[in-house]
Amino acid sequence: MKLVVRELEGGYGNVQVLRGVNFEVNTGEVVTLLGRNGTGRSTTCKAIMNALPGQRGQTRWGTTDLSGLSSHEVARAGVGYVPEERLIFTNLSVDENLQIGRKAPANTSTPTWTQDELYALFPRLHERRKIKAGFLSGGEQQMLTIFRTLMGNPGAILIDEPTEGLAPKIVEVVAKTIAQMRKRGLAVLLVEQKLAMSLSISDRVLVMGHGHIVFSGSVADFRADDQIRRQWLEVN
Ligand SMILES: Nc1ncnc2c1ncn2[C@@H]1O[C@H](COP(=O)(O)OP(=O)(O)OP(=O)(O)O)[C@@H](O)[C@H]1O
Ligand SMILES: [Mg+2]
Repeated sequence: MKLVVRELEGGYGNVQVLRGVNFEVNTGEVVTLLGRNGTGRSTTCKAIMNALPGQRGQTRWGTTDLSGLSSHEVARAGVGYVPEERLIFTNLSVDENLQIGRKAPANTSTPTWTQDELYALFPRLHERRKIKAGFLSGGEQQMLTIFRTLMGNPGAILIDEPTEGLAPKIVEVVAKTIAQMRKRGLAVLLVEQKLAMSLSISDRVLVMGHGHIVFSGSVADFRADDQIRRQWLEVN
């Protein structure tokens, strides 16, 4: 299966951010979406979730046409979303947050995640499972947000800057968890600033600039292309 994005356009009010974004993410691969701050990476994720009023273009997950569905229906169709802001219920325990996230997969071929197997990826959260999520550290809340989305058993997942502001130890847990998603056959779109980390777990790289994808290639191709990095990523 594939997550397919075609000619995606949209923005905020009169400001057009996406000017025809095209790419695909296959199951079992991690694709990193790079770009300077403010280029529209988060906007791309929002548009895939159909959360951008007035957006145009086509989005498809496997045989399901996502265009025109509500964000909730996109999620139900099997596309999970971990937004930049950590979305947890602060007054509920870690366990309760995970239980609320639980959902049968949209597609029978999608593997289901168990709470135990997620806790095994980050035992610290298991130790704190009875604690209200509001008392967790930033890194623990981020992992809980990711785990909660995985409890919904998505086939594809969009993860927007999961490691921002996190300590190196937690960044490792995020990386390990994403590697596990890949192994389980999810289609992963990762927006990430930490280049070394994201490249180490990615299969392909997309670079955004001027509202388009300006580079699409393997991690090796990206590493070999200094020009792309200079033109579209480094801050001059
Ligand atoms: N809710 C909003 N209303 C108006 N403009 C917005 C809104 N959200 C984002 N923008 C603008 O749209 C452009 C793209 O923003 P987006 O959040 O997609 O960037 P990004 O690539 O995710 O970068 P970063 O996460 O570093 O900010 C930016 O110029 C931003 O200021
Ligand atoms: Mg962003």
